[in-house]
Amino acid sequence: MDNPKPSANLPDGTVQYFSHPTATVGFRDDVLRGLAAPQKAIPPKYFYDEHGSALFERICALPEYYPMRTEMAIMQGNIGAIAEALGPRCGLIEFGSGASLKTCILIEQLQPPVYIPIDISESALRAATATLAARYRWLNIGAVCGDFTHPINMPDFGAVEIRRKVAFFPGSTIGNFTQEEALAFMRLTRLMVGKGGGLLIGVDLKKAKPILDAAYDDAQGVTALFNLNLLARINRELGGDFRLDQFWHRGFYNELLGRIEMHLESTCAQTVHIGASAFSFRAGETIHTENSYKYTIDEFRSIARTAGFRPDKVWVDEKRMFSVHAMAAV
Ligand code: SAH
Ligand code: AVI
Repeated sequence: MDNPKPSANLPDGTVQYFSHPTATVGFRDDVLRGLAAPQKAIPPKYFYDEHGSALFERICALPEYYPMRTEMAIMQGNIGAIAEALGPRCGLIEFGSGASLKTCILIEQLQPPVYIPIDISESALRAATATLAARYRWLNIGAVCGDFTHPINMPDFGAVEIRRKVAFFPGSTIGNFTQEEALAFMRLTRLMVGKGGGLLIGVDLKKAKPILDAAYDDAQGVTALFNLNLLARINRELGGDFRLDQFWHRGFYNELLGRIEMHLESTCAQTVHIGASAFSFRAGETIHTENSYKYTIDEFRSIARTAGFRPDKVWVDEKRMFSVHAMAAV
């Protein structure tokens, strides 16, 4: 993408980087508690260490993983109308910014004076911040490494004029929450942007099971590597002794619950240690590692209304695979 010239006389961008404690605390406790539960489970936010973020980038390039390219195409095809819905001189806050690829489309059209990416993955956040700072030298960036499900103080850019705060939440990362968590998150976002603020959010749509099954259990096995990296991360960071060859990846659409489920299934009866704690597995027992809820447009709009947003425009691709919603906080 070209490095566009800002239309106004914007100052040289300031780049700030903040580490919030929520980015690093909790891993050990959540893993020990999750593995002691009757249905073993680990929250998906722990996928994203350096290896996990790199594997997610590979997933995005897979032929079966349609969300990335579909959302990009929706944004590119409708960027004029999207910019109109968000308005000029907005302070852009992005949740789960990762490589910030989709953000470039927005930045080039909106030329926001301030961009605040929030991500739990330090490696992804630092790399994206460096790339954006080099490409858009006028852009003020306040990168926050932290957990976006917790309230986070926003970096302050003092005198920079901002007309409206706009949150951007692409990738259907909202789908990784349960519906109750999604509602709580939307309420938090509503508070963060304030009355009159905006939200641009990408939401994956319900569709035929074979398409969804393939997207989360790809032929090259990259999603399997992404899932198994969670066990490798536990071994690296928490002193675990998981044998990665004794677990296999399962990713499938649960039509009844309207969600993808990812699990790691034990291939045999075994005991795994993490420090002084021991966890036994039956053959076939799973660790539930991720949900990825799929919505209809109306289902998602209903959650948004309950959280205090007024749904505005929604854009979809021709095959109605993915949706991008613009909303206003009321
Ligand atoms: N927005 C990008 C990346 C989506 S992947 C895209 O649309 O392609 C999800 C991103 O959210 C990852 O970069 C991951 O590190 C981040 N993430 C997941 N859970 C998080 C949490 N609780 N707090 C902050 N970031 C989180
Ligand atoms: C980040 N998140 C929206 C992805 C998803 O589609 O749920 C994570 C992912 N898991 C497996 N493949 C991709």
